[in-house]
Amino acid sequence: MSGAPGNQEDRLVEAAAAYRRNAVSNRSGFSVGAAIEDGNGRIWGGCNVENSTYGLTVCAERVAIWKALSEGIRSFRAVAVVTGADEPTPPCGACRQILWEFAGDVPVVMATEGGKRKRLQLAALFPEPFDF
Ligand code: THU
Repeated sequence: MSGAPGNQEDRLVEAAAAYRRNAVSNRSGFSVGAAIEDGNGRIWGGCNVENSTYGLTVCAERVAIWKALSEGIRSFRAVAVVTGADEPTPPCGACRQILWEFAGDVPVVMATEGGKRKRLQLAALFPEPFDF
């Protein structure tokens, strides 16, 4: 993460928490917010979006990165994920693949609304990736 890491990480977690409030999570009751910092320090956020198909649900992480990619952004510095779980929750396998492909080995900050935090590099969360 850029600049003063502590402050920038707080900013990213706060953004993810704010986007979590927009979650469409009426099916599972599990609201997630994500925020991704691009190479210029701009933050892109997203929430999970569930729907009647269930299977076409999109996770918060992918909503956030799709937003950035669709605006032409191609470099990323860090990702934050916020949930209401008791312990920090890592991204699902599908999101790990997508984050790896487009963001590379970025730090992933997993935070709870209760204030717990865990940080891991994406390479640690997603060893032996499929790269094509
Ligand atoms: N979810 C995310 O948004 N991100 C993850 O990394 C894990 C799961 C969402 C999908 C679904 O709406 C709800 O959490 C329960 O799985």
